[in-house]
Amino acid sequence: MNVVILAAGMGKRMQSALPKVLHPLAGKPLLRHVIDTARSLSPKKLCVIYGHGGAAVPSAVQAWSAEGEVAIDTALQQPQLGTGHAVIQALPHIDAQAPTLVLYGDVPLTTGASLQRLIEAAGDDKLAILTVVQDNPFGLGRIVRENGNIVRIVEEKDADEAQRAIKEINSGIMVIPTRYLDGWLNGLQNNNAQGEYYLTDIVAQAVAAGVPVVSAQPSAEWEVAGVNSKVQLAELERRHQLNIATSLLEKGVTLFDPARIDVRGELVCGRDVTIDVGCVFEGRVVLGEGVTIGAHCVLVNTEVAAGAQIKPFCHLEDAIVGDKSQIGPYARLRPGTSLGEDVHIGNFVEVKNSKIAAHSKANHLSYVGDADVGSRVNIGAGTITCNYDGANKSRTTIEDEAFIGSDTQLVAPVTVGKGATLGAGTTLTKDAPAGKLTISRPKQITVEGWKRPVKVKK
Ligand code: UD1
Ligand code: CA
Repeated sequence: MNVVILAAGMGKRMQSALPKVLHPLAGKPLLRHVIDTARSLSPKKLCVIYGHGGAAVPSAVQAWSAEGEVAIDTALQQPQLGTGHAVIQALPHIDAQAPTLVLYGDVPLTTGASLQRLIEAAGDDKLAILTVVQDNPFGLGRIVRENGNIVRIVEEKDADEAQRAIKEINSGIMVIPTRYLDGWLNGLQNNNAQGEYYLTDIVAQAVAAGVPVVSAQPSAEWEVAGVNSKVQLAELERRHQLNIATSLLEKGVTLFDPARIDVRGELVCGRDVTIDVGCVFEGRVVLGEGVTIGAHCVLVNTEVAAGAQIKPFCHLEDAIVGDKSQIGPYARLRPGTSLGEDVHIGNFVEVKNSKIAAHSKANHLSYVGDADVGSRVNIGAGTITCNYDGANKSRTTIEDEAFIGSDTQLVAPVTVGKGATLGAGTTLTKDAPAGKLTISRPKQITVEGWKRPVKVKK
């Protein structure tokens, strides 16, 4: 099979400098959704027709082509003279012996299962169209049938009143026997209301040639919904997110409100995971059994092990959280953070590129960056690892059972030995020996006979 994806249109109604098909839905460009679905069908040839938007579309496609098993060709359509004219550009890139599936780069949510049904309906020698009966068919091509058989497609702008009353619409997605395609496309005329070469006109040609024209239907209307404006993009985003939420609920995840979750990637959940409102998941996020995520958290490429609790308003990115750990509220775990079992990271604590072993705690207002922290360490409020001298980053090592007093600065590279205690307010510039109290505070003095100044009377 060949797949041709039409993506040359300009998408004027998006009111954006970014080509329409590169706008993200669930964090992934529209065109990438279509390409991923196309690839799931293992086509022999896959070709994207581009036009508007300069090099942005073909360069994105080339990068995706290198990532996957199925290589993607691109073909330029310049100027854009209609959907039929767009498919002509694909002819040198496809195999004439195999059927061709035409998809639109701005119709992101068609499922592989629906396309599979269409492909089966087409077989080797039929023209098959994905159609939907919809209450409001306005603006779309209508499927004209005689005695139940499809005889042609007529565009809204070319339709008479009786045709406009037809509710069965052309999704635009079709499977065409490629051996006829060249002839049909070269026979297209543009003497219609829009002065375009319509791909849909091949239907009447197929009928005239005695090639059977059949249809298949998607499981839901949103599968064929296209994006022409930010309004439609937002509607489809919500639809897609609701689909994801429903599938999470079906797998046993508790969502306090399925309308208030955003998954922009892959969210994998163990049993009895609970997610409060307003959370965003990006990239690949894995939540172990019994994990709870509080309201308004953002998790990016992160793994949270069983029984851990992420309290409200946390931001976690490229991080690993150990079993039964407690994070937040208001904590930030930056890339390279790896926490062991039962680690507590409290409010306004930032951790970056650091390992913190089991049962250690940093409960308040701290920065732990480029550090290796042992187990059962207590990091007091206001502790800062001074990891950056303006040019280079250095590591801090804090061994097991150390106690870091509040408001301490650890000037890296520096090591706090096992079981060491640092007095509050220490600025540690040399290693602190194991098991001892180290303190860098000036001795406290009390000034005898000192009096508070009084205001001089004028
Ligand atoms: C097309 C169909 C219509 C169908 C509707 C579904 C035709 C003539 N009409 O109408 O029957 O109901 O889609 O949404 O096919 N494109 C190009 N090059 C072009 C023109 C379009 O690549 O020269 C691409 C667009 O980027 C888009 C797709 O083809 O991805 C559809 O184009 P659009 O202009 O939206 O088609 P419609 O007129 O809406
Ligand atoms: Ca359209």
